[in-house]
Amino acid sequence: MEHYFTNNTNLKSEMRTILFTKEENVFTFFSDLGVFSKNKIDYGSKLLLNTILKNNPSENQKILDIGCGYGFLGICLGKILKSQADFSDVNERALWLCAKNIQENQVNGQVIKSNTYEKITEKYDMIVTNPPIRAGKIVVLDILLNAKDYLNSNGTVWFVIRKDQGAKSIVQKLEGVYEITNMAKDKGFYIFKAKMR
Ligand SMILES: C[S@@+](CC[C@H](N)C(=O)[O-])C[C@H]1O[C@@H](n2cnc3c(N)ncnc32)[C@H](O)[C@@H]1O
Repeated sequence: MEHYFTNNTNLKSEMRTILFTKEENVFTFFSDLGVFSKNKIDYGSKLLLNTILKNNPSENQKILDIGCGYGFLGICLGKILKSQADFSDVNERALWLCAKNIQENQVNGQVIKSNTYEKITEKYDMIVTNPPIRAGKIVVLDILLNAKDYLNSNGTVWFVIRKDQGAKSIVQKLEGVYEITNMAKDKGFYIFKAKMR
């Protein structure tokens, strides 16, 4: 079965653009078949972005968008917070689109093909993710639990999970490592901020 994280080299291409306006910025995202939320920005990702921005984040941060897809979260945060954003995913088409979108929206950052943190070598002030629930709980927990090794001191992990996708049990597993705060709740999506204990 094909998923949004499957690399299928035979997949045809039907590029499209998605426009997104936030504050005074108008972002253009190139999207295509075979990537997550190909026709519109995901509601949970938008809620995550809006919640981060409402909580007075500082500028000049170093941000990692893990499971970046075509780059929505990291590109908006990188631009609005005048920050460096790096992007990682396993889906090659998503990474190619993300690189194009970084250039289109003039954000400073690099794209890294990496299964969770395998190829990540730096540390970040903020790790942000709409994790790949369809890839299974092991991958999701790998991304969320191991974020601690890629955070600067005082760094935070921000993530979105739907209530019906096991938010409660995932958060329980993270509580030993992080202090977790539920920062927003809307239409079944929960936004969490995790800080090292
Ligand atoms: C729910 S989508 C979120 C995409 C994007 N961040 C957004 O908000 O639109 C999750 C992403 O995680 C990626 N992914 C799946 N398995 C992964 C893994 N093992 N390591 C890194 N990324 C993975 C998928 O390819 C997909 O792009």
